[in-house]
Amino acid sequence: MDKLSLLVIPGSVRQGSLNCTLARAAMRIAEAQGAATRLLDLRALELPLYDGDIEAKQGVPAGAVELIEAIMQADAVLVVTPEYNGFPTPLVINAFDWLSRAPAAASRPAGLQATANKPLGLLSASPGALGGLRAMNYLRQYFQMAFGMLAHPRQFALSRANEAFDAEGKLKDDKARQQVEAVVQSLLQLAGAVKTKA
Ligand SMILES: Cc1cc2nc3c(=O)[nH]c(=O)nc-3n(C[C@H](O)[C@H](O)[C@H](O)COP(=O)(O)O)c2cc1C
Repeated sequence: MDKLSLLVIPGSVRQGSLNCTLARAAMRIAEAQGAATRLLDLRALELPLYDGDIEAKQGVPAGAVELIEAIMQADAVLVVTPEYNGFPTPLVINAFDWLSRAPAAASRPAGLQATANKPLGLLSASPGALGGLRAMNYLRQYFQMAFGMLAHPRQFALSRANEAFDAEGKLKDDKARQQVEAVVQSLLQLAGAVKTKA
């Protein structure tokens, strides 16, 4: 069987983002487990804030189609995001809200068809004590209920993330690394099972 492909989407893309650092650590772990990985920078999609007038005048932006295509090409998606005031970041929600508005076209399915039954993993990181846990719980509901994604029950919130990485971006704490490994492994197992049955 071909390598499983994992699309990794950070919910923060600022320079020095702890979640980007965690996303890259998870990618190295996935590669060590035999998967091919791709990092998707949501900022590069250049999506405006969702606005029904923009949609009515111009349709769904090209960035939403890029997101759909990236998801279609992946066997699993891993979202790695901080929480803002206990909620997922607007960067994530805005991108997926746009995706949900994309109708099917000759070359691709509708946005919601691309996400349906796609295995999803969740990680979060924060300097705080909860590590972004609340955002993951909202995202689990959002991606399952609205997007039909198969959110794996296993997730991990990295607390005190500002102290968690060494100079190379590797997790210093063995227990934290093992938690990320377990999330990635569980997600890849689910993706393998879904791919085999498809
Ligand atoms: C608007 C805003 C709200 C935040 N709310 C929370 C929060 O509810 N819980 C939390 O743990 N951290 C919160 N933080 C702190 C972020 O976890 C911290 O800035 C983190 O480094 C952001 O992730 P990043 O490093 O990947 O950009 C908030 C930050 C911002 C900018």
